[in-house]
Amino acid sequence: MIENKNGIFLNKINLININKKLNLPLYIYNYKKIILNFFFIKKLKFFFFFYIKSNYNIFLLKLINKIFFKFDIVSIGELKKIILISKKKPFIVFSGSGKTLSEILISLNLTIFSINIESIQEIFKIYYLMKKYKKNINIMIRINPNINAKTHKKITTGIKKNKFGINIFNLKNLLCLNSILNIKIIGYDFHIGSQITKISPLKKMFKLINNLYKNNKYKYLDIGGGIGVNYYFNKKIINFSKYYNEINKLIKKYKIKSKIIIELGRYVFCNVCIILSKVNFIKHNKKNFFCILNLGMNDILRPSLYNSFHKIESFNKGKNTSFFFGPICESSDKFLSKKLKVKNNCLIFFYSTGSYCKTMSSNYNSKNKIFEIIIYKNKLKIIFKLENFKKLIKNYV
Ligand SMILES: Cc1ncc(COP(=O)(O)O)c(C=O)c1O
Repeated sequence: MIENKNGIFLNKINLININKKLNLPLYIYNYKKIILNFFFIKKLKFFFFFYIKSNYNIFLLKLINKIFFKFDIVSIGELKKIILISKKKPFIVFSGSGKTLSEILISLNLTIFSINIESIQEIFKIYYLMKKYKKNINIMIRINPNINAKTHKKITTGIKKNKFGINIFNLKNLLCLNSILNIKIIGYDFHIGSQITKISPLKKMFKLINNLYKNNKYKYLDIGGGIGVNYYFNKKIINFSKYYNEINKLIKKYKIKSKIIIELGRYVFCNVCIILSKVNFIKHNKKNFFCILNLGMNDILRPSLYNSFHKIESFNKGKNTSFFFGPICESSDKFLSKKLKVKNNCLIFFYSTGSYCKTMSSNYNSKNKIFEIIIYKNKLKIIFKLENFKKLIKNYV
């Protein structure tokens, strides 16, 4: 971002003008940066399935579909979005810990690439439907390896306490059962957590994979997503190439011949998006200033849900310094940042908001979901319209 006396510029677009044209707050994606991230992912030569839960804007899904054509879904709603945007049938992995009979049935009818199962109960459901409707489907088995991903406890998914996957003991039972049911297993599946910034958990995971491979090897090995992004900008964390170089070393070390699947979510769009918001007003008591924004936990839930940090910057600032709060009627509607200089109506930027922000947003306090726009070929393009009141009341009877 470049600030000068004429404005604040992102790819030659003056963000001050956006404030004059469209209602703030809004999400702004940067197409050039998206393409750069796609380039890094393509270089890996792994099978990349985009994890839709992190961002399901239809315009962005179309970009993914054009280049990668592979998606990882956790619900029928996500599956329907993919069907909507894609003329040909893309490759789909169905993940998630609580698939219903009807979700499995739809997957059977669409012959998706794989259902990643997480329990013995699920394999019974699949078997029952396969027999009833005379269909076949491939499965991968998600393992809970009891490995701590050393990330935030609310986004750790591979330890004993987490509901995800099948532990090693139950895996033996499941494989034994499947020798009778005969459902085609095409791989093991792992996802030990999100926002992972250390390589040591992956080393443990590959050691376990090596042990499992002594008994059964499959065509595919799904190692999940999880690579962390640099929310702090100033802190050094492992970068994308280094992370996957380390993974390649582990693949070589254990002589793994399976085709590697990755299910990236966060990395793909996180750092290609900012939220542009505005100071509504600043109030103070004897001790503190409270800078109330027009952006709240309904728009960006991660800070109040996980205590997550997003870098914040203020422009055309004033003299007073303050922390930041949203307009929602909850004390947890506040943002983690150091105090910044602010004044009424000044512009506030939230960084790294392209993943798990819009998808987690809600209509809490009967607020409308906000605009998403993209800087696309040096022009602004609206890719999600501000919701209106009609949408808020449409389903009431
Ligand atoms: C099964 C599974 N795969 C992939 C992902 C994507 O992880 P990330 O966004 O950290 O890359 C998740 C995230 O929750 C997940 O649960």
